Amino acid sequence: MMMVMMMTKMMTKMMMMMMKVMMKVMVMMMVMMKMMMMVVMMKVMMMVMMMMMVMMMMMMMKVMMIVMMMMVMMMKVMMIVMMMMMMVMMMKVMMIVMMMMMVMMMVMMVMMMTKMMTKMMMMKVMMKVMMMVMVMMKMMMVMMMKVMMMMMTMVMMMMMMKVMMIVMMMMVMMMVMMMMMMMMVMMMMMMMMKLMMMVMMMVMMKMMTKMMMMMKVLFQIQQCSRPTLHVDSFLYDEDQVDSLCENGTLSRTFCLNCGSQRTAALDFVSHSFSISELRFLFQNILPDLSGRTLVDVGSRLGAVLYGGYVYSSASRLLGLEISEEFVQLQNEMLQKYRLTDRVQVVHADVCTQEVLLQNADVLIMNNVFEYFMEPSEQMRAWRFIIQTFRKSGSLLVSVPSLQESLGALQEALLPGWVEELPVDYNVYLGRDSDPDSLRQIHLYRVM
Ligand SMILES: C[S@@+](CC[C@H](N)C(=O)[O-])C[C@H]1O[C@@H](n2cnc3c(N)ncnc32)[C@H](O)[C@@H]1O
Repeated sequence: MMMVMMMTKMMTKMMMMMMKVMMKVMVMMMVMMKMMMMVVMMKVMMMVMMMMMVMMMMMMMKVMMIVMMMMVMMMKVMMIVMMMMMMVMMMKVMMIVMMMMMVMMMVMMVMMMTKMMTKMMMMKVMMKVMMMVMVMMKMMMVMMMKVMMMMMTMVMMMMMMKVMMIVMMMMVMMMVMMMMMMMMVMMMMMMMMKLMMMVMMMVMMKMMTKMMMMMKVLFQIQQCSRPTLHVDSFLYDEDQVDSLCENGTLSRTFCLNCGSQRTAALDFVSHSFSISELRFLFQNILPDLSGRTLVDVGSRLGAVLYGGYVYSSASRLLGLEISEEFVQLQNEMLQKYRLTDRVQVVHADVCTQEVLLQNADVLIMNNVFEYFMEPSEQMRAWRFIIQTFRKSGSLLVSVPSLQESLGALQEALLPGWVEELPVDYNVYLGRDSDPDSLRQIHLYRVM
């Protein structure tokens, strides 16, 4: 029994440690999630900044395009001006040439006239002059045509440059648009990825929580892996249990494998003192309690209180019970059997009863926390009792020993708090009494 209990306690401790580690892992994951969220926010800020930069770049490109267009316009204007100047120059040259030709023609005509007059060949000369004029006009026409052609090609070139500029602008615009689109898509993808990551993390957290719940359930199942009957020995002594087993109400064995003949012994756990244990406690362990106050921590059915009423002369018997149902039951019994003159039950957690513990002369602690509290809660309750139950000379009855109770919680017994007093267990209390269970009762005195 002890071995099984020890193993169960060890497993409980291990499971608690595992659960603590898992809780720490969960806390770390939460911190990581927070950090990831911060990273996402930073990324979003970066994206916004990048978008602003892209917009600024676009603006700058637009400005540059406008500047370039203005330059092209200026060049165009300059070209036109230059062309006009050239035309004017050419016209001037042509005028000069024509003037010179006219002068020359005049001179020639005069000379010819004189010659014609003299040589009577005026008609021929005239023809020649006419021919020359015609040639000159033809040359002028050709020149004018050439100038016109040049002007046309220049205008054409200007037009082409303009078209090219427009095409370039459109291409740049399209490139910028594409870049922006790509950036937007990338941003969206990144956001989606982050969202997916967060969703995955949330799913993982949920899974971990479920796993923890499952582990807790497994742990509870493990704790209960060996079926145990909870039979208060104050209510049913060994003979009564035997007769209940005989008439089939209770069984001392359970089937390990349905359909097979294999059976195993059931564990029986009592959550209260038996009548023989109560007699041993009040008649053999504790001194005369006249004028003293006894507090039973976790009074359950009230066994210690009734036992104290019958077997001791304690002036006050106080029961402390956390379960309302048990408090009600005890109060009903106290009323029914008129025990209220010395017995009282308080519905409270022991950890809230500082004054009561400070004034107690005898404190009874029979397996109070072991089956009813988590180890961390047990530790908290024990620390409270060690700090509060300090009245020098007051007595503490503990089942099992303090070393065992605190050792199971890996809590050291505070040196200088209590000293163990010897108990004579070699007492015959009838065939009902169980010497092993009597040996579990330990007596201490507060130093
Ligand atoms: C093993 S029984 C005690 C039996 C009783 N003292 C006796 O010997 O007959 C433990 C009882 O302690 C109660 N209990 C557990 N934790 C408690 C707490 N923190 N304060 C008061 N009662 C508590 C439980 O409800 C349970 O009824």
